[in-house]
Amino acid sequence: MRYSKIVGLGHHVPETVISNAQLSTMMDTTDEWIIERTGIKERRWIDPAKDTVANMAAKASRLALQRANLTEKDVDFIVFATITPDYFFPGSGVLLQRELGIESIGALDIRNACSGFIYALSVADQFIKSGMYKTILVVGAEIQSTAIDATTRGRNTAVIFADGAGAVILKPSDKPGILSTHLHSDGRFAEELYVRDPGSSRPREERQPEQILDTTHFKVVMNGSQVFKHAVVRFMEVINEALTANGMKKEEIDLLVPHQANLRISQFIQQKMELPDSKVYNNIMRYGNTTAASIPIAMSEAWAEGKIKENDVICLAAFGSGFTWASALIRW
Ligand code: ACO
Repeated sequence: MRYSKIVGLGHHVPETVISNAQLSTMMDTTDEWIIERTGIKERRWIDPAKDTVANMAAKASRLALQRANLTEKDVDFIVFATITPDYFFPGSGVLLQRELGIESIGALDIRNACSGFIYALSVADQFIKSGMYKTILVVGAEIQSTAIDATTRGRNTAVIFADGAGAVILKPSDKPGILSTHLHSDGRFAEELYVRDPGSSRPREERQPEQILDTTHFKVVMNGSQVFKHAVVRFMEVINEALTANGMKKEEIDLLVPHQANLRISQFIQQKMELPDSKVYNNIMRYGNTTAASIPIAMSEAWAEGKIKENDVICLAAFGSGFTWASALIRW
């Protein structure tokens, strides 16, 4: 049986740290409100003069390749998860391919928001298992700060979302590796967490140049309480689905790496699963919610800190816009 295995991981976050205190100079908010509701203390915002989604992704990818003792030339496919691509089109996958100087390999973009990285990992897993590719670069990277409405009007989401990139390298292996992935969506809830514009659903007469500056452009609409309510249910369901599919018990998980949506959501899941702090990795306090980048950044940090070891069972789980939700169970 052919499986896929993560052989290297890396991440990159921008240098500029934005504290809650700094945000409170831009909008009517407080450190206490943000920490109490989200657990976030600070986040990273890019320098638009030097950072792009693709070049942050390239930095994360090079670190992952170096840790895997591989080079750019070894990569034969890219799967790139982002909802904040550098351009409206083409996707950031091809821009990453250019940054890495890899000629002509395929690059696929995935747009499943907070669940994007697990969707990307699942797609890559199938390509490895089928024998189509041998070394796949799987990336999650986002720049949210350039679209954030950093005024009181946008405060319910501006304090949450942030920038960063993470990457893993998948290679074939005769033992797992990735044990299983589980992907779900329910489009009935699409508008509970979404950005409408610049979407094609808007008629041409509403898409005139002066309206580009209209407040709906890149405006994140989020029904926070609905998201919370669904997230806690779906996270639990999809983690249990992964355990059942592999005949495992929750006690067998060595590390749960949840999408860093909101510390309160992670804590709720931890409590429900009765997992000790040592078995749940959270870094949202330092980085905010980096959407598709949050899981690979967290995995890369956890690995570097020695919290992911040979033979460990790692559970990834995510929930986000769509709604979408997903999990992956991995034997390291
Ligand atoms: N600072 C101060 N006050 C604020 C802020 C802010 N940054 N944002 C909103 N408020 C105010 C609101 O205006 C509102 O005031 P009002 O009562 O005078 O109208 C009040 O705080 C309460 O607003 P709610 O939106 O009801 O805030 P809530 O207590 O629900 O917390 C939050 C919002 C943290 C988003 C919460 O709903 C939540 O945790 N939702 C889960 C969704 C989530 O975490 N999404 C982010 C990730 S999405 C994903 O990754 C899946």
